Amino acid sequence: MPATTQTAPQAGSPAARSVRSPFGKYWALDPDMTFLNHGSYGVCPLPVREAQDRYRALMEQEPVRWFMSLLERHMDISRARLSELLRCPPECIGFLPNATVAISTILHSIDWRPGDEILVNDHEYMSVINELNRLGHRRGVRAVMPALPFPVRSSDQILGAILSGVTPRTRLVIISHITSPTAMVLPVEQIVSALRQRGIMTLVDGAHAPGCIPVDIQAIGCTYYVATLHKWLCTPKGAGFMYAHPSTHGALRPLALSSRGHQPHPTRPLYLRDFDYLGTDDYSPIACVPDAIEFWSNVVPGGLAEVMRRNHEMAVEARGLLCSVLGQVPACPDSMLPTMATIPLPPLPERYRNAPTVYGDPLQDRLVNEHRIQVPVWTSDLFGLRFLRISSQIYNTLDEYRYLAEVLRRELEREQR
Ligand SMILES: Cc1ncc(COP(=O)(O)O)c(C=O)c1O
Repeated sequence: MPATTQTAPQAGSPAARSVRSPFGKYWALDPDMTFLNHGSYGVCPLPVREAQDRYRALMEQEPVRWFMSLLERHMDISRARLSELLRCPPECIGFLPNATVAISTILHSIDWRPGDEILVNDHEYMSVINELNRLGHRRGVRAVMPALPFPVRSSDQILGAILSGVTPRTRLVIISHITSPTAMVLPVEQIVSALRQRGIMTLVDGAHAPGCIPVDIQAIGCTYYVATLHKWLCTPKGAGFMYAHPSTHGALRPLALSSRGHQPHPTRPLYLRDFDYLGTDDYSPIACVPDAIEFWSNVVPGGLAEVMRRNHEMAVEARGLLCSVLGQVPACPDSMLPTMATIPLPPLPERYRNAPTVYGDPLQDRLVNEHRIQVPVWTSDLFGLRFLRISSQIYNTLDEYRYLAEVLRRELEREQR
């Protein structure tokens, strides 16, 4: 595989397209795209995909042996490696396909009483808000949603905003470790500590966190922590997990009970029995967790810690250059940036509001179709701001953001004409 995988500048393009870094050889990304959206779905590197092929071969060679004998062993190996990386007891990890399912599983396990309040904020992921709306209709619980300051000067302002929404009826607080629309690392340790003192349960939505920032679940001290491993840890798609404090295991069962749900096992707690087998499915993404961790250990000296450091630095620099070309001020301190950054954009002009779009904003459609750049542009349904979010992974280069900045400057001018 060549080290540089992109094509030459296209005729009529306002700026020279750039090549990916030499690390691009580990991914099979489309050579014709400038791919600046690692965050939404992750991209699985080739060595991990090869590992997945091996697990799938094992499964199809003898499916009964795979599901009845090998599967739990592989889940245990993955759980042990993940618990070392994220610092929590392995027996508290339940695997699920993604953060969305993990959050729903937790929300439906709690004995809600009408009038209970769940505190979120207006930077939470829409699947959480949708699930809370459903829970409100079915169980009479109320979602309380204070606004987070944005732009924000310091993480103390975030703590203040969250605590302002607490009432005597608050039973659970859901808080992102890294916000999806605004790409900020929130001070979850301080937030959880303040809420624990008030006897309130906490669910940290760390969908983006593993492989993006250091995570220490025990130090955070939350009741529940969920994440998706296909984003920044780069497993194949369909690997997520929840950490649940042992005091919650008795009530925490899958949304659909499998054929093993009635069969207690003398040496295996029901929590593991339940979440290691959710029914017949492809569990190879979860079996690949050790392979993904191994991939990161070997890719650069210093392993994953060094990758996260480099990616963070690239996000800081990339944000700086985009802000200076677009005349924007950074919306949060560099210390709150993970390996992504959000740049506010002018509102979508009125005449585009009802235009059909594939990607949700006509600007994103033009970036993809006319300039071959994949980067998300959206307007938050919750706080109304329009923005663009860049991701930085080791296959990216600063030249790619320079190309984006130049294209954006012209496209935003074009929008105003
Ligand atoms: C904060 C947050 N929570 C949850 C999710 C959902 O992740 P998944 O689609 O892997 O379930 C995302 C996805 O981007 C997210 O950013």
